[in-house]
Amino acid sequence: VTAEKGGFDHFMLKEIHEQPKAYRDTMLGRINEDGKGVHFTDLNLTKEQIKNIRNIQIVACGTAYHAGLVGRNIIESLAKIPVETDVASEYRYRSPIIAKDTLVIVVSQSGETADTLAALREAQANGAHVIAVTNVVGSSIARDANDVIATLAGPEIAVASTKAYTSQLIAFYLLGLYMAEIRETKTTEEIAHILAAMDSLPEQVEQVLTQAPIIKEYAEHIAQHKHLFFIGRGVDYAVVQEGSLKLKEISYIHSEAYAAGELKHGTLALIEEGIPVIALATQEDVLEKTLSNIKEVKARGAEVMVVSYEERREELMKSVDKVLSIPRTLPLLTPALSVVVLQLLAYYASLALEHDVDKPRNLAKSVTVE
Ligand code: AGP
Repeated sequence: VTAEKGGFDHFMLKEIHEQPKAYRDTMLGRINEDGKGVHFTDLNLTKEQIKNIRNIQIVACGTAYHAGLVGRNIIESLAKIPVETDVASEYRYRSPIIAKDTLVIVVSQSGETADTLAALREAQANGAHVIAVTNVVGSSIARDANDVIATLAGPEIAVASTKAYTSQLIAFYLLGLYMAEIRETKTTEEIAHILAAMDSLPEQVEQVLTQAPIIKEYAEHIAQHKHLFFIGRGVDYAVVQEGSLKLKEISYIHSEAYAAGELKHGTLALIEEGIPVIALATQEDVLEKTLSNIKEVKARGAEVMVVSYEERREELMKSVDKVLSIPRTLPLLTPALSVVVLQLLAYYASLALEHDVDKPRNLAKSVTVE
C-alpha cells in the first residue's frame, strides 16, 4: 500500500506533491513552441463560435465548482466574456437562461457526478455547446459533452480533491488565453508574458511544498479550535472557499469562507477572542482594503494568519500574528500557488486530529446520485 502511495503516508499528500507534474502535463502540447500562444487542436468549438460567445456558464459541484469560481475571474479578465458560475444541483432547477451564443463549461474530476451530468444535459437540451473539463476522458460527462478539455492530473484517489482542482485551474488559464487571442482582448506580448509566468508555476509549487513543516505547525495549532474563518477578496475569495471546504471535509473543523468586505454585514458578530482567521492577501490592488478588514477582526480579538508574498512579511507582521508566504507570480495566477498552502493546512489538521485523511466520514469520491 505504501508503494501505491509512492512512499507518502496518504494518497492526499502524494497527490498534493504530484501537482507540479500535473501542471506540466496539463500545459504540455497546448502551448505554442514559441511560447506566444495556446492551441486546442481537439476543440470542436470553432474560432468563429468563440468570437460570437455572448456569455459563459460554468457548472460543477464542490471543489470543481470552486475551480469554476476562479475560472470566472480568469475568463472575464482575459477574454472579457461575462461568466456566471453555478453549483450543478442549483443550475438545473433555476431555469437558467441559455441563449444561442451561450457557452456552458462543466467541470468534473470524475466525469461521473450525477448533478453535473444532469446539468450538462439540461444545457444541451436548451441548445448550448458544452465543454467538459474533466480528468477522466472515458467518463459519462466526457462522452456526452460536445467538447472535452482533459486535465492530465492522473488518477486521484483521496476523497479530498487537490491535483484535479489545480489542473482545472491550468485548463481555465489555457482556455482563457486561447479565447483572449481569438477575441483580441490581449496582445501577443501580454499572452506570452502570462505563459512565461505559468511556466514557472510547477517550480514555485515545489517551493510552497518545502514550507510543509511550518504549515504543519500552524495546522496543529488550529486543530485545537472548533471554528474558524477564512477571508479574501477577488480570486483570493474563490480560493478561501476551496480552503474552507478542504478543511471541513477532512478535519471536521467548522469554518466559513467570507469575502473580506462582507464581514461587517453580519459575520463580525461571530468574531471573538482567540478565534483563528486565515486571510489570503495576494491581490495587491485590494491589499489596503484587505488589511483594513484584518484590523476589524484583530480589534475583536481574532488571531490572524495571512498568506501573502514573502516581501510583505515584515509589513504584515505589524498587524497580524502569522504569515505564510507564496512565491511571486502574476495576480491572476496566485490561486495555483496559494491553494497549495491551504491543502497542506487541511491535511495536517486532519492528521493532528487523527482522522481518516483519505476517506473522510460520510463522503464518497464520486457522487453518482442526485
Ligand atoms: C472535493 O474535495 C470533494 N470531494 C467534492 O467536493 C468533489 O469535488 C465534488 O463531489 C465534485 O466531484 P467531481 O469533480 O468528480 O465532479
